Amino acid sequence: MRELIDKISEVKNLKELEELRVSVLGKKGELAKGFANMKNLAPEQRKDVAKELNEVKQSFTAKLEERKETLQKEALEREMLSEKIDISLLSTSSEAGGYHPVVETMNRIIEYFQKLNFSVEEGRMVEDDFHNFEALNLPKHHPARDMQDTFYFKDGSLLRTHTSPVQIRTMQRDKPPIRMIAPGTVFRRDFDLTHTPMFHQVEGLVVEEAGKVSFANLKFILEDFLKHMFGEVDVRFRPSFFPFTEPSAEVDISCVFCEGDGCRVCSHTGWLEVLGCGMVDPNVFDAVGYKDVSGYAFGLGVERFAMLIHQVPDLRSMFEGDLRLLEQFRA
Ligand code: DAH
Repeated sequence: MRELIDKISEVKNLKELEELRVSVLGKKGELAKGFANMKNLAPEQRKDVAKELNEVKQSFTAKLEERKETLQKEALEREMLSEKIDISLLSTSSEAGGYHPVVETMNRIIEYFQKLNFSVEEGRMVEDDFHNFEALNLPKHHPARDMQDTFYFKDGSLLRTHTSPVQIRTMQRDKPPIRMIAPGTVFRRDFDLTHTPMFHQVEGLVVEEAGKVSFANLKFILEDFLKHMFGEVDVRFRPSFFPFTEPSAEVDISCVFCEGDGCRVCSHTGWLEVLGCGMVDPNVFDAVGYKDVSGYAFGLGVERFAMLIHQVPDLRSMFEGDLRLLEQFRA
């Protein structure tokens, strides 16, 4: 019986080991036979034989496990060796990558404002109530908070719902004058054809000594910016409301799909809304302790820009990472 144990070290692979295991420990295996044979033995012999059989069973099982581990390790090593990739080999495929349309659009926006000496600020994605709402003239229970379905953490902090809090952080950190944009990721509890829970915005803020910037400056720069992004489009400013600006406006461009004639995309108005803006509300300056200044601000959604520039109809396709779509944007 003991020679069964020696057989283990002769086994060369896992398959042979399994065969050996079955032939020894299996229902019809050597050990089972040994136990079955005991009824033919004289009663005084049985105890010794049973003891020996049990010992063999124990050592065999232990040795078997040990051998199994070694063989498994060897098999893994062989497999890894055979799958090794020679990264020094020349590739036969030469496909270039490209920027995602959202990133490309973001970069174009940033580039435009950097040329005008705007700094690029990041802020933070996890914000507090003060920076995301309160300091932007959105006190608790303000109805405008409902427009922004917010993701909250247990401790009351939140995922920023817009990039406007970066205005507040920048003004708290720096003295005026300020010229900044804040490109970044924002989050809202919203998911349908035209909304995703994560998207991108660019916020802009200019602050100067009181009286040195006006709505005319804001209008000039945004018109120039929109023509830079969309080409020869008409631009119009429509009175609107935002808590952090007064007066406020929404800005439309003539529809890029029908050139203003009216189509499904522009709801037959000939116009597409592309950003919000206004003169910074005095309450916002109060919240950061700025005195005797004036300024303007604006905010826009990058996905919307990308979709209009590339005439992509469904917002969600921007986030699916489908190569058939992305390949079309390869530079
Ligand atoms: N924060 C606004 C939003 O998320 C966008 C916005 C509108 C920003 C007007 C501004 C502004 O700075 O003046 O919808």
